[in-house]
Amino acid sequence: CGIVGYIGQNDTKEILLTGLEKLEYRGYDSAGIATLGEDGVHVTKVKGRIAALRKEVDNSKDATIGIGHTRWATHGVPSVQNAHPHQSSTERFTIVHNGVIENYVDLKKEYLEDVDFVSETDTEVIVQLIEKLYEKHKNTKKAFGEAMSLLKGSYAIGLIDAEDQETLYVSKNKSPLLVGLGEGFNLIASDAMATLKETNEYLEIYDKEIVLVNRSFVEVQTLDGEVINREPFTAEIDASDTEKGTYPHFMLKEIDEQPIVMRNIIREYQNEKGELKLEKNIRKAMQKADRIYIIAAGTSYHAGLVGKEFLEKLSNIPVEVHVASEFSYNMPLLSEKPLFIFISQSGETADSRAVLVKVKELGHPALTLTNVPGSTLSREADYTLPLHAGPEIAVASTKAYTAQIAVLAVLAVDTARVKGIKLDFDPLQELAIVANAMEIITNQKEELEQLARDYFATTRNAFFIGRSTDYHVAQEAALKLKEISYIQAEGFAGGELKHGTIALIEDGTPVIALTTQENVNYSIRGNVQEVVARGANALIISSKGLEQDEDAFVLPAVHELLTPLVSVIPMQLLAYYAALHRDCDVDKPRNLAKSVTVE
Ligand code: G6P
Repeated sequence: CGIVGYIGQNDTKEILLTGLEKLEYRGYDSAGIATLGEDGVHVTKVKGRIAALRKEVDNSKDATIGIGHTRWATHGVPSVQNAHPHQSSTERFTIVHNGVIENYVDLKKEYLEDVDFVSETDTEVIVQLIEKLYEKHKNTKKAFGEAMSLLKGSYAIGLIDAEDQETLYVSKNKSPLLVGLGEGFNLIASDAMATLKETNEYLEIYDKEIVLVNRSFVEVQTLDGEVINREPFTAEIDASDTEKGTYPHFMLKEIDEQPIVMRNIIREYQNEKGELKLEKNIRKAMQKADRIYIIAAGTSYHAGLVGKEFLEKLSNIPVEVHVASEFSYNMPLLSEKPLFIFISQSGETADSRAVLVKVKELGHPALTLTNVPGSTLSREADYTLPLHAGPEIAVASTKAYTAQIAVLAVLAVDTARVKGIKLDFDPLQELAIVANAMEIITNQKEELEQLARDYFATTRNAFFIGRSTDYHVAQEAALKLKEISYIQAEGFAGGELKHGTIALIEDGTPVIALTTQENVNYSIRGNVQEVVARGANALIISSKGLEQDEDAFVLPAVHELLTPLVSVIPMQLLAYYAALHRDCDVDKPRNLAKSVTVE
């Protein structure tokens, strides 16, 4: 979910709506705003997107304070009733919340037995609790503070009090929230990107702080009332990077940006002498580690699988790759000197953050690879390696995946060099070749669009197969296709398909096989024969040098280790065109959110 809040002079509704549009990537099943002016509080909520909310918001006199929310449903179905903001029974207090309150049932029982609830959300419990505590304290700040101290779970909260047009009450725990600072106004947002039009000066909020945001000042306190002084920081994002320009979709723009991202990484990770440039402390941490644990979710997890190969093959360190949400609850036996690498486009994924919190409690070092330096996972880890991919807006990740793989390659080679391992592999030179290869593929859109039409226009399911490194890309290819086209797709190890899943192959089932590794070129083609013999409609994508007449698409040759960076591009484009042909909402697929800030 995404939150925005504003206290200033005017234009409150517009600032909230524009902010929410920029935050839609965090969820888009319902939305709402509340504004407070001379004529009291006005709440507008809709089921659906911000565009629908915009239509619903009236043009009446503008207010000078307000809060807004775009939701990714956790408790309660998407509906107007369950949409935020939520109000207390007397409508004095109005709240927006991102996160999950774990003890909301207990709080309801202990404090709110006599209250009639109108929604099914845990959020309404918070606002009713604040009202209840207000009856006791007759002071909003005290009631807010006590309510926050009673909450267990994750939250980012903005609250307005109908009797006070001068204060936005703000707090957070585990969920992201920033204060934006301006001249004569201040605001809050889940992500700096939401309010870049207004300001690029931001103030961090730490977990369990109470923040009072006024037009001209911001007061930060701990739960015990200790006042905190914190320096603001400047968000270094260009507002124009968050627009799609002439592209029909962000996803297509971001696919096309991948060669530029490779070149950014080459530039950012070398010094004037053309040598690899990495922070000294990261080098030390890598040298010390006897085992690396990569923790990630979704596409970032798939990048981690490729990264494991670099780190093991080049820098000779054993690596385990774990899905964050599993690792939290079922930790493997750790080595003596583990190093944790968190891979996260957004740097906000709650599943990954839960692991980071545990890792820090255990006292182990952590490095975050993220596209958002300053994000929670970046701030809370010991070290950060930025991806330099520029804002990724489409929900389905493309350029962040290739950036993650490229940065992992740089890290692996750098570590090898620091450890004195001789390598015949210059990652910067090889990435430059990759950038050109990517461009060649992104120039073949018509061909790929036709293949998408031929293979995916009407199919119910699809299989992607590969062996070795190609298997990891097959998994990512399947995820891309299912995320945005809703075709049931699976990525399988070529040799494993026959051990069960082959039962699903019917006449015409699309099977997309990837072959970029010489040592498995022969065996994966054998697997293709097995499925073709059972009626599959096979499409083979191979690397130049390994190609055969039957192959539908040939990838330009790049270093064998780096093939995922190019083989994923046709997969992304196939998924894109499949979704387009099936009339799906490419940038905002159903049920998903780009940044999932609940566990
Ligand atoms: C969500 C998105 C996925 C993404 C995953 C991890 O589920 O829908 O596309 O891969 O989160 O996100 P992160 O920001 O941690 O890379």
